[in-house]
Amino acid sequence: MAIRQIRLKGDEILSKKAKPIEKVDEKIKELAQDMLDTMYQNDGIGLAACQVGMLKDLIVYDVAYVEENGTKEPVVMINPKIKSRSKNMVVVEEGCLSFPDEFKEVTRHEKVTVEYLDIDGNKKVKHAKGMEAIVIQHETDHTEGITFVERD
Ligand code: NI
Repeated sequence: MAIRQIRLKGDEILSKKAKPIEKVDEKIKELAQDMLDTMYQNDGIGLAACQVGMLKDLIVYDVAYVEENGTKEPVVMINPKIKSRSKNMVVVEEGCLSFPDEFKEVTRHEKVTVEYLDIDGNKKVKHAKGMEAIVIQHETDHTEGITFVERD
């Protein structure tokens, strides 16, 4: 278990686009595990690789952890791509581990379908709604160099 340092607002890496991961090797697996450890350690529900200083197209999240108080259901998504979005929108107050003490209402799609590789490099499709859909949109924004404070 290794906790990595979280890059904070003003760090230029947060506005850069991540590079696709070509091979899911041990280094990527270690990075994903470190990101989860770092996220849990900081009471976050999602984290993108740029937030620990790596311009890799990788996100992790766990929405069960907050909602069900202690149950861990970590999700790792490699090269996540949102393939479809519901027309229906929802407004939720968001925060971000890179912006401590900042919260903002952001309008997001209620549902999204995302394609990604899992930690074993298998192609997956997820239909997400509710908090999970919001976290996926927030974290995939990070992989594009976009932070929630730029969203309305
Ligand atoms: Ni964030």
